[in-house]
Amino acid sequence: MKILVINGPNLNMLGIREPGIYGKNTFADLLQLLEDTAREEGIEITQFQSNHEGDLVDKIQWAYGKMDGIVINPAAYTHTSVAILDALKAVSLPAVEVHISDVDAREPFRQISYAGLACIKTIKGHGFAGYREAILYLKEYLSA
Ligand code: DQA
Repeated sequence: MKILVINGPNLNMLGIREPGIYGKNTFADLLQLLEDTAREEGIEITQFQSNHEGDLVDKIQWAYGKMDGIVINPAAYTHTSVAILDALKAVSLPAVEVHISDVDAREPFRQISYAGLACIKTIKGHGFAGYREAILYLKEYLSA
């Protein structure tokens, strides 16, 4: 089973950016969590992070025919990007949306998710653990 994990803009700054919201753990810690989860669950995980919307679209398109599912935290592009929504629809792979923070408890603009319209599930406010939950959810979904 092959899962692509995509992280959008500023998530490479985890540990530095707004620790009161996102915590003190770093992006490297998140990558370690993905690696551990892949090993424990016997899944092949490819991870990709970019600050650029088009690069995120390219990576979603790249997944077509190569990956079985996608875990995506589009970060700020969640709330603005029809291009990412359309890319997820285009490849039609099962996708799970993750947000580290509880976006529903923040500014109203964060309560709109375009990408989420193409996702089978959204996990928000569970910190880094949300990525593991998303991977396990996809694994079960793909095994069913
Ligand atoms: C985020 C929430 C977004 O609103 C924000 O722009 C991010 C991170 C999260 O993981 O909580 O960059 O996606």
